[in-house]
Amino acid sequence: MSEVNVTELDPDRLPEHVAIIMDGNGRWAKQNGLNRVRGHEAGAKSVRSVTELCRELGGIKTLSLYAFSTENWRRSNAEVSALFALLSKYIKLEINNLHNENIRIKFMGRTDGLAKALLAEMRDSEEKTKHNTAMTLNLAVNYGSRSEIVDACKAIVDDIEQGVLAKGDIDEQSISDRLYLPETQELDLLIRTSGELRLSNFMLWQLSYSEIVVTDTYWPDFHKPQLMEALREYQSRKRNFGART
Ligand code: FPP
Repeated sequence: MSEVNVTELDPDRLPEHVAIIMDGNGRWAKQNGLNRVRGHEAGAKSVRSVTELCRELGGIKTLSLYAFSTENWRRSNAEVSALFALLSKYIKLEINNLHNENIRIKFMGRTDGLAKALLAEMRDSEEKTKHNTAMTLNLAVNYGSRSEIVDACKAIVDDIEQGVLAKGDIDEQSISDRLYLPETQELDLLIRTSGELRLSNFMLWQLSYSEIVVTDTYWPDFHKPQLMEALREYQSRKRNFGART
């Protein structure tokens, strides 16, 4: 049973696609007198609790988490290695839980630079869970939104060269169809933890009409009650998608 009261939310107005920029692991660690890597480890626990609540609520069909950005390579080698080791550990420890919860896992991002063993774990976990239907968990790894759009443009040029697409037929859908995970496009709610007011190159195409909730809470302190609060905030918003109210 969850430690939160899910009846506080309107089940008919849940966001179908929630994305989270999980920020503040380093500051959380510093605040607690710990090494930055301990902050990331604590952050992995928040991934579990947030996934659990989204699954429990039912109406949230997709949860996308920003685990490693194309810019994160600029961190120290030790921190980059620790982040990938943690991801590998997460996959090994969590895959059976996710599978038992009927959750499908997918990864989005470029594969270059990632270790072969990690790539194999990522592909195996996608394969194992591919028929699961309760919810999809997208993990953005080596992900950058601009790179994603560049890669979509290259795919469009390839299709034009192969004669399967005409220049005059290019529209928004043509780009959406060539993003890393074309089946999960529109974002309803973007949450950013730790109070930073930035998008940090995350899902820029998909969040065009998304609601944005920023909380001061550092990611390792973001658990079910904090997610409930963000969802209540979302449900208090009036979305008009650019139309007049
Ligand atoms: C930002 O905090 C967080 C990251 C760069 C990595 C996110 C990774 C995790 C939450 C760990 C595990 C994830 C999975 C999927 C197992 P920061 O280091 O930028 O924090 P700071 O701004 O306070 O320094």
